[in-house]
Amino acid sequence: MNNIILIGFMGVGKGSLAREVIKNSQYIAIDTDDLIESMENRRVKKIFEDDGEAYFRKLESDVALWLESSVKNTLISTGGGFYKQKNLKKIATVVLLDSPFDAILKRIKEHPNAAKKLKKRPLLSDLKLAKELYDERRPEYLALADIVIDVTNKSAIECSKELLKKVKKYA
Ligand code: S3P
Repeated sequence: MNNIILIGFMGVGKGSLAREVIKNSQYIAIDTDDLIESMENRRVKKIFEDDGEAYFRKLESDVALWLESSVKNTLISTGGGFYKQKNLKKIATVVLLDSPFDAILKRIKEHPNAAKKLKKRPLLSDLKLAKELYDERRPEYLALADIVIDVTNKSAIECSKELLKKVKKYA
């Protein structure tokens, strides 16, 4: 099985989908933000606050090199900026979770832990800037994706089925 890497904007549901896919497949799952938090023994938010975004991006590139050399049969969920890693396509089949900005915000706001979800994401603290970031990134996400899943108004179960069907040809 080739690795699968989930890319897409903050809050689009990469983690939720990963949790659903592993219930119904042979994949194991890891998450790049979780790996970074373990490496650093502090939260992403704290890393941004203490050492800035550039330092966080350096940690992402360390993780990307490790993934390329060491990880197999794995579904990798990522932070929304991880797609910038140069070796992305060498790590895995790239799956974009796509949705309009407003639908992503709605998804976050409707979550029972909405306040926490917003608070832990430094790049969502200013919604105008977040929208600009979305507009800048979306064409880049699309250009990299081997597979696109429109997740708007779909459950994690539906998206998981779609993903497993679509990745078959990359197996
Ligand atoms: C980021 C997304 C976050 C996290 C960090 C930066 C980004 O992950 O990696 O706050 O640049 O889009 P999520 O996509 O899981 O929110």
